[in-house]
Amino acid sequence: MIPPLLRYVEETASTNDDVMRLVMEGAPHGTAVYAGAQRQGRGRQGRAWHSPKDRNLALSVAVVGERFASSLPLLPLAVGVAMAELLEAEFDLPVQLKWPNDLLVDGKKLGGILCEGVQVGVRFVGAVAGVGVNVNLERGELPEDLRDRATSVRIEGGELASLGPLAATARLRIVEEAEALASGGRDALLARWQRRDVTRGREVEVLQSGEVGVAEGIERDGGLRVRMADGRLSVVRSGEVHLRPLPSPNSADKDKNPERS
Ligand code: BTN
Repeated sequence: MIPPLLRYVEETASTNDDVMRLVMEGAPHGTAVYAGAQRQGRGRQGRAWHSPKDRNLALSVAVVGERFASSLPLLPLAVGVAMAELLEAEFDLPVQLKWPNDLLVDGKKLGGILCEGVQVGVRFVGAVAGVGVNVNLERGELPEDLRDRATSVRIEGGELASLGPLAATARLRIVEEAEALASGGRDALLARWQRRDVTRGREVEVLQSGEVGVAEGIERDGGLRVRMADGRLSVVRSGEVHLRPLPSPNSADKDKNPERS
């Protein structure tokens, strides 16, 4: 029997690990796993990714083939656009993207993406695109320190959603977007990404260096352009950036008249 391309597991360590193993064993392009719960879900920068059982989408999709090697750095952006458009269409949410691949609603994190390359020896075999989206999570289920920084479809006013159909559509959209990127769709992708770019024109702090500058959009290779205070243009290609708070509306008046409190 041919195994289905999309499989559900009640519990696993990490769906990214599962799909990575399947790809090593020769699973075809588009193979995907979504889980009710992950014991060791991974986020970016070595962080843990938590989510209560059966509340959220935890999905990993295999992008298999040497033709995807050259577009690998842009894959997280392609997956981000695919997911933002899907979540907006399904739940009528204004989803924005924060470089490199956070899904935000009104500045709060709705989901994240972790793409990992798969190699056998030195040969590139493909990649695993892992997506975590807070879907049916209630505010009270979020750890207290995340309540002001994270959100879910449900918290944003959405109806309870079925995770199976969502996983199936997400798998298809991610595969389509990876294909389009590998067949020369880079400029179209970057244009769609920039329409949702929450960092553009905002002051950001580059986490690795601590430098602060104003984000000026995405480079063709997927890096984030940041204009530093001394006028230098820096392109951030790895790690992440933090959005600095917007100035409060009357801070400009205070600058003009510093003695007024
Ligand atoms: C982040 O924002 O740090 C990325 C989070 C990615 C989490 C997803 S959940 C499905 C897949 N399996 C994992 O272990 N991680 C990704």
